[in-house]
Amino acid sequence: GRVWTKVSSLTDELKDHAVLIRGRAQAIRAVGKKMAFLTVREKGYTVQCVLTVAPDLVSAQMVKYATAISKESFVDIEGIVTVPPEAIKGASQQVEVQVRKIHCVNRAAPVLPINVEDAARSEVEIEKALEAGEQLVRVNQDTRLNYRILDLRTPANQGIYRLECQVSNLFRQFLLNEDFVEIQTPKLTAGTSEGGAAVFKLEYKKQPACLAQSPQLHKQMAICGDFGRVFVVGPVFRAEDSYTHRHLCEFTGLDVEMEIKEHYSEVMDVVDRLFVEMFDNLNQRCQKELEAIGKQYPFKPLKEAGVEVDPLGDLNTESERTLGKLVLEKYGTEFYILHRYPLAVRPFYTMPCPDNEAYSNSFDVFIRGEEIISGAQRVHVPELLESRATALGIDVKTIASYIDSFRYGAPPHGGFGVGLERVVMLFCGLDNIRKTSLFPRDPRRLEP
Ligand code: 4AD
Repeated sequence: GRVWTKVSSLTDELKDHAVLIRGRAQAIRAVGKKMAFLTVREKGYTVQCVLTVAPDLVSAQMVKYATAISKESFVDIEGIVTVPPEAIKGASQQVEVQVRKIHCVNRAAPVLPINVEDAARSEVEIEKALEAGEQLVRVNQDTRLNYRILDLRTPANQGIYRLECQVSNLFRQFLLNEDFVEIQTPKLTAGTSEGGAAVFKLEYKKQPACLAQSPQLHKQMAICGDFGRVFVVGPVFRAEDSYTHRHLCEFTGLDVEMEIKEHYSEVMDVVDRLFVEMFDNLNQRCQKELEAIGKQYPFKPLKEAGVEVDPLGDLNTESERTLGKLVLEKYGTEFYILHRYPLAVRPFYTMPCPDNEAYSNSFDVFIRGEEIISGAQRVHVPELLESRATALGIDVKTIASYIDSFRYGAPPHGGFGVGLERVVMLFCGLDNIRKTSLFPRDPRRLEP
């Protein structure tokens, strides 16, 4: 086959080389009949291609053909890399391609619901462009989500999902190195794990069932099955009633469960080392992605970003943020753990503090004042587990096999659950969790 060059690797090192590229026609501009400029985009990277009528370059007919190509169509281009004397605006690559051959591989519809070039601009840029009288349609979030595959083509969105891939990858690598076993847990379950209301009910062969609200019960049962240290990466379903910037009805849970030898701080220690290593690695490995994300979504502390807070949403949102500010001022960190929560606000499986049962061996982890992780030591005594579940209104019949697991000998254990989309949202300083879910599911959205 022929040798293809990626748009992202078109640099001045390739000066005077012949290259073959495939990408989308992002913008096409004719200059008279003898010249045209074509911006070609491949996976968020763009290069300016120049068509000039000349015996060794292209014909006038070729220029005509090129200028008739609709935006977002796929094109193959053969040409020579040149380095213009001045900086190129509106392209990520600082070289040009002098076109010799152009071929349209697949045509996009002539009218698009979203102009990808406009969708890639930041709010500030859009304001400026509108003030300058530019013709521009502001694309709101719902339109972006309705035509998600177009919206996903912006460099920032390309960056977000490549970074998200690294988050789950780094999570997995760290835990595998520490002797954890990756397990799969059922998503079809008989009972709830996190409490009654926010659950999707369904019928399972004439038997009432629901979609798993978390792998909680089964990851603990895996500990009873002697795996010692386990983790799960997979979908989690919550029938959230609140429409907020940080709740989805389906998200990706990163879950950990492990035996505890002496104290539940052993679990917090894993959280600490895991996330410090993850964030260091993200900063190193994802520089290009973070730069692209920052261009469309310049980093602003959430509060100043004017995040819309749903009055029906989590009541603690404001206080969590205030606390985040205080921690930052006092301790100079945006990543911190709070522990020893009142038992009353935690799920039934949470272990009470041995010295004071009004509190619990539990913790939450925050970035910039918003929760990304919650964890705890679990109750491994079946009688206590049963009475705690009943006290919280859970029908123990639906979780009988879970409770029974602790009757045959169970070690002290604990763990935590992380929301992947939330980690990415807060790490990148984004204002809405829909920006970090490829095809988000929220109380009003089941499509696309
Ligand atoms: O706090 P949650 O509900 O805790 C559990 O599911 C426990 N089983 C975890 C454990 O091991 N004790 O959820 C864990 C994390 C939250 O910290 C948050 O990051 C995320 O999952 N999360 C959501 N993300 C998006 N949309 C929602 N509706 C979320 N609910 C929780």
